[in-house]
Amino acid sequence: MNLDGKKAIVLGGTSGIGLAAVQLLDSAGATVLAAGRSESNIEMARKTTEDSVTFKALDVLDRDAMATLFSDFATFDCLINCATGGERASGPFLQMDLDGFQGSFRKLWGYTNSVRIGAEFMSPTGAIVLVSGFPARKSNPGSSAIATVGNAVEGFARAIAPEIAPRRINVVCPGLIDTPMFALEGSARKEFLNKATANTLIPRAGTADEVASAIIFALENDYMTGSTIDIEGGALLP
Ligand SMILES: NC(=O)c1ccc[n+]([C@@H]2O[C@H](COP(=O)([O-])OP(=O)(O)OC[C@H]3O[C@@H](n4cnc5c(N)ncnc54)[C@H](OP(=O)(O)O)[C@@H]3O)[C@@H](O)[C@H]2O)c1
Repeated sequence: MNLDGKKAIVLGGTSGIGLAAVQLLDSAGATVLAAGRSESNIEMARKTTEDSVTFKALDVLDRDAMATLFSDFATFDCLINCATGGERASGPFLQMDLDGFQGSFRKLWGYTNSVRIGAEFMSPTGAIVLVSGFPARKSNPGSSAIATVGNAVEGFARAIAPEIAPRRINVVCPGLIDTPMFALEGSARKEFLNKATANTLIPRAGTADEVASAIIFALENDYMTGSTIDIEGGALLP
């Protein structure tokens, strides 16, 4: 797919990986609509993007609002969903608040909403990219919720690929990426990122751009569907 002149929606496109994808899509000549919940993120994102990018407020769990947003932007070619959904439970499973565990699945419900609702408003030659995360296949103790959700995202894409063909769907699986998803600041942030990546083959946090470039690859490559691209600095290796 040549992205020049194509229409792309990026859910969770107001921060981090999604925002980096928005910037790359815009540079490639796509018409981009980016969405997230908070006006404050939208305002920050506007400052780092060209005026050609449109931002809208949307909660990916609000299916009616999503249907309206999609139909207003139809027919679009690319759907990228990077929205975290809002909750990431961590800690030992046997001590975990099960509501928190289940709450982590908001990410999956946001993704499934967008594919179910978005498909009918997409071009038949369109492409979808979802974002999982390396705990899907290499979980450390305390990561059971995000590991389970990540697995579900990758399994969902493989399961749904034959049903939505000839539209394509792929997943990008990031390692630890330096984005606003981690609220820590200053030296505490640096220490956390360094410690968490010290034993990785490439011992540093990845950048949002490094993940976004894989999202662009998955959109552009017409011979790819139901696949997952790992951008994780070797984190999945033993
Ligand atoms: N950063 C990492 O180390 C890492 C590692 C593995 C996987 N991932 C995955 O990569 C994806 C992107 O993460 P990121 O690091 O770029 O996070 P981020 O910087 O926190 O960005 C998350 C984006 O999602 C939006 N969002 C969250 N919940 C939403 C909802 N219910 N409805 C609509 N928008 C929503 C946020 O905006 P609002 O909050 O304003 O809605 C924001 O635009 C996520 O799926 C995350 O799980 C990240």
